[in-house]
Amino acid sequence: MSSRRHDTLFVCQNCGFQSLRWLGRCPECGEWNAFVEKTDTSPSTRAKIPSSAPLPIPQISSAESTRIKTEISEFDRVLGGGIVSGSCVLIAGEPGIGKSTLLLQAANAIARQGKKILYISGEEAPTQLKIRADRISANSQNLIVSFQSEIGEILALIENTDPDLVIVDSIQAVFLEELPASAGSVIQVRESASRLFSAIKSKRTPLILVGHVTKEGSIAGPKLLEHLVDVVLYFEGDRTGPTRILRSQKNRFGDTTEIGIFQMTSEGLREAAEDEQLFLDRKAIYTPGNVVAAILEGARVILAGVQALAAHSYLAIPRRVANGFDYNRLLVILAILEKTANLRFGQRDVYVNVLGGLRVDDPACDLALAIALYSSLEDLSLPPTVAFGELGLGGEIRLVPALEKRILHAQRLGFQVILTPSHKGWEKMENVQAAENIREVLSIIRKISRREKVNDE
Ligand code: TYD
Ligand code: MG
Repeated sequence: MSSRRHDTLFVCQNCGFQSLRWLGRCPECGEWNAFVEKTDTSPSTRAKIPSSAPLPIPQISSAESTRIKTEISEFDRVLGGGIVSGSCVLIAGEPGIGKSTLLLQAANAIARQGKKILYISGEEAPTQLKIRADRISANSQNLIVSFQSEIGEILALIENTDPDLVIVDSIQAVFLEELPASAGSVIQVRESASRLFSAIKSKRTPLILVGHVTKEGSIAGPKLLEHLVDVVLYFEGDRTGPTRILRSQKNRFGDTTEIGIFQMTSEGLREAAEDEQLFLDRKAIYTPGNVVAAILEGARVILAGVQALAAHSYLAIPRRVANGFDYNRLLVILAILEKTANLRFGQRDVYVNVLGGLRVDDPACDLALAIALYSSLEDLSLPPTVAFGELGLGGEIRLVPALEKRILHAQRLGFQVILTPSHKGWEKMENVQAAENIREVLSIIRKISRREKVNDE
């Protein structure tokens, strides 16, 4: 990049992308009409890693940095084993999802280990925070809370209290007094974060930032900071239900496939047990359009209820809605069913949904979705059925990793029908039925299901 300074710059208010010209659409994040002129191009304080003299690679110390355990094992696992010293973690999520609750619980657990925590609350009144603290029994003397939102004051506080961990809740609520922009604007978020980074990197104190995300999934905060921080975690879930998922988007010190599962209770967040069936509805299982997918999230298998509804359409172009599942993948599966199994969805509105607010990326969910679509189209109710397998464009069912693990999990939870891709020795496995392609699967479904009478057409 050129280091030339121009008098005028245009900055995308969504992601912070800078351009010399005004642009209608941001090439970085795709947002429309987000560019605002920024006349002040004074040098910005950039996030810096402490510089060192050039060294031959063998002489660079690789000593594993110490990690602070939150003692919330779901949280620690997603972090890759705890919070690495000197690192910066961003926890993003919609307002009200439970970010402050999670962090206050973690802070309290860390404080109980004798470590000093500085929790900066920029958006809540002391009584609000205290009510939450009482609900989750956060009462450690080492948990110091400050209701402060000016960065200069916060930096002074960090300097004076010398904590083992700093939590800033949230980055949109803090601001630098010397900047004219309001808190939460791109400039404020970026500058505030940079000042915090420089302060903690030199002291090797870890920092956790909270960032709010809007319904559309992006705003100034998290998107703007993603490439500046070491770890980006998203806290998500269906706010109308109790299940919450902590997902890693980026982790310089760990695996990003791990997820943490929690339940929001009246006493804060509770970790989900291994076999807890949070994404299932045992009652809905028998209605047409319902199947259970055995999907892999990190190292664990989750049984997720998949629902499909193929209803008569009154529109020239029927509607397709995917909730918790990739929209384009849904279109591909519909096309495969149409072409290889002669199923007609052309006059149907199609809605698919994954229960419990889960967002599924595992291609093994394809087969369950295809069966759910068929079951809804033909009004077939199935016995409790688990299915997994990736669909190829020719209708073939592909093998997926952790086959045995998925089968064992479904067996343990008492499922009578487990549909899998064809693999060695499946005949000997209890309740397992394997198929090479989608036509075979549908013929199995016809045998085991019962047609419901519905006055649809
Ligand atoms: P909060 O942590 O304030 O969300 P965020 O910081 O992401 O905005 O949590 C908000 C919701 O969680 C709120 O609607 C109340 C609910 N909640 C519980 O159900 N139980 C609890 O013990 C706590 C503390 C909150
Ligand atoms: Mg909050």
